[in-house]
Amino acid sequence: MDTLITDINIATMQGSTDYGALYDAAIGITDGSISWLGAAAACDESAAQSVIHGAGRWLTPGLIDCHTHLVYGGHRAQEFELKLQGESYEHIARNGGGIVSTVAATRKLNEQQLAAVSAPRLKRLLAEGVTTVEIKSGYGLNLEDELKMLRVARQFARDHEVNIRTTFLGAHALPVEYQRSEDYIDFLIDTVLPKVAEENLADAVDFFCESIGFSYEQCRRFALAALKLGLPVKGHVEQLSYLEGAKLVADLGGLSVDHLEYLPESDVTFLKQAGTVAVLLPGAFYCLAETQLPPVQKMLDLDLPIAIATDLNPGSSPIASLLTIMNLACTQFHLTPETVLRGVTCHAARALGMQDEVGQISVGLKADLVLWDIEVPAQLCYGMNLVQPQMVFKNGRLL
Ligand code: NIG
Ligand code: FE
Repeated sequence: MDTLITDINIATMQGSTDYGALYDAAIGITDGSISWLGAAAACDESAAQSVIHGAGRWLTPGLIDCHTHLVYGGHRAQEFELKLQGESYEHIARNGGGIVSTVAATRKLNEQQLAAVSAPRLKRLLAEGVTTVEIKSGYGLNLEDELKMLRVARQFARDHEVNIRTTFLGAHALPVEYQRSEDYIDFLIDTVLPKVAEENLADAVDFFCESIGFSYEQCRRFALAALKLGLPVKGHVEQLSYLEGAKLVADLGGLSVDHLEYLPESDVTFLKQAGTVAVLLPGAFYCLAETQLPPVQKMLDLDLPIAIATDLNPGSSPIASLLTIMNLACTQFHLTPETVLRGVTCHAARALGMQDEVGQISVGLKADLVLWDIEVPAQLCYGMNLVQPQMVFKNGRLL
C-alpha cells in the first residue's frame, strides 16, 4: 500500500442506509485506487509506505458537481437588480438579457482569457472537496465559440487536480443571428455536433427544452443526432413549464434530467424505468425565487437516484459552492443530509456515467477522498460556510 488512513469513520455511500458507514475503520490506497477497506484494528500499518491517523474524523468520497456552466464571460448583476424590481427570468430572457447576454460576453474573450476568468470559479469548488466537475458549453452558440468553451473545459482537466466531464449544450438558447430555431438546430446537427465529436471535445450533450429554449421536437432531433455520434444525452427539462422533456430523455436512455420543478408525479416512473438520474438544482430554484417544487416525495418513494448540483452559472444560480447547495437541497427541497450526500457522490457519478470510477468508497474505485473534521456527516449540510476539508486526496495523492 502507498497510503493507509486509519482511525477514521468512513461514509462509503454503499448500500442504502446510514451513509454506508464503517466506524473505527481504515482504508488502503495503492496506485491511486482504493485497495483495502476494513476495521482500524485489523489493518497492518507496517504494510503502508505512509500512514495517516484520522483522529476519529469522517472520510467521504470526493464530492461531485455534476451540472455546472462555470465557463463564461461577464456577469449578470444588472439582471439581478431587475429581478429584485420584479422582472421575471423569462421576461429578461425574451428582451435580450439572460443567456444571450452572457453569450455576447463569452464570445468577446479568447480561449486564454476565458480560462483565466473561469478558473477561479472552478478553484472555489475544488477548495470544498469537489474532485469531479461537469462543465457545459452553451454560451458560444456558434461553431468557434462553442468549441472554445469546450477546449477551456478540457484544458482544466490538465491544469487542475480534478476529473472533468464536458457537455456540449449547443441547444441552450437561440443566438441573435438566427431568426428561426429550426435553422439553428439544423446548423448544430450539420456543423457543430460532428466537429465536437470529431475533436472528442464532449462526453455528452444537453439541451434546454423550454418555451424560451427549444421545443420537444427540436430537442429530440438534436439528441438523436448526438446519439448517432455516440454521445449520451442529458436535458434541462421542466424547469419553468412542462414540455415532456424528461420523458424524452428517458425514452432515449439518457444519463440525467435536470431541474424538474414542473415534472408531474406520473412521469417519475419513466425515469425509474429508464435508469435516468434526476438532477435537482436548488440554487436555481432559490435564486429565481421559484415556488413550484419538484416531485421529491414521489422520487423518494420510487427510490429514484437523485443527484444534487450547483448549476453554477451567471444567471439562475451564481453560487460557486457545492456545500452551500447541499444546505439548500435540505432546506428548499426537504431532502435529508444523507440523500443529499448521495446526491453529490454516488448518484452524481451515475449522472455522469462514472459510477464505476468514483462516487463511492469501495475497493477498486479511484482514491478521490475527503477527510472532514466533523463528528457526524449531517454537519456537511446543516450550515453554510462552517466546514471545509481537512485533507483532499485525488487519485490517492494528498493535495
Ligand atoms: O441551468 N436553464 C437554462 N440554463 C441555465 C441558466 C443559464 C443562464 O441563465 O445563463 C440553468 O438554469
Ligand atoms: Fe443548467
